[in-house]
Amino acid sequence: MTAENPMYRADSASQAAPAIPFYAEQAGECRLFEHAFQQRLPVLLKGPTGCGKTRFVEHMAARLGRPLITVSCHDDLTAADLVGRHLIGDGNTVWNDGPLARAVRTGAICYLDEVVEARKDTTVVLHPLADDRRVLPIERTGKSCRRRPASCW
Ligand SMILES: Nc1ncnc2c1ncn2[C@@H]1O[C@H](COP(=O)(O)OP(=O)(O)OP(=O)(O)O)[C@@H](O)[C@H]1O
Ligand SMILES: [Mg+2]
Repeated sequence: MTAENPMYRADSASQAAPAIPFYAEQAGECRLFEHAFQQRLPVLLKGPTGCGKTRFVEHMAARLGRPLITVSCHDDLTAADLVGRHLIGDGNTVWNDGPLARAVRTGAICYLDEVVEARKDTTVVLHPLADDRRVLPIERTGKSCRRRPASCW
């Protein structure tokens, strides 16, 4: 992702700012995404292959100055793959955040690519995060992490 690549354009405000991936807006979706981001609402993108869903998310993350964490969903994906798990190291177990927990803690945008491919028992962890509770319960640790004010997925 460099400013020399014609697929990306430099932020006009500052040459030092990271390049924003080029995205040609189709029908006001950038403003819609910004509004959802401000209101901390999840966004569901639907459209045929190659229509620009991934590029749109990359563009919006850069534009909003948020890190982007992408998870490619499939039917073997488990809730632990999203939320995290205990790993053994140095003779004891250490909690390791999954990509979703990391996004919630850091205020990143979490892009669940092909989320429809994930099983219901996996996507169930998204419900408390997407509804008015705005928390990600981590059953294995007995704790929850609260969505940072600017986070979005
Ligand atoms: N609105 C757009 N603005 C700029 N580039 C676009 C746009 N729509 C599509 N593209 C181009 O088409 C390519 C494919 O887009 P992208 O990978 O975002 O599609 P997708 O909807 O995520 O497809 P898939 O469902 O297969 O993942 C991009 O690399 C980009 O070059
Ligand atoms: Mg895509």
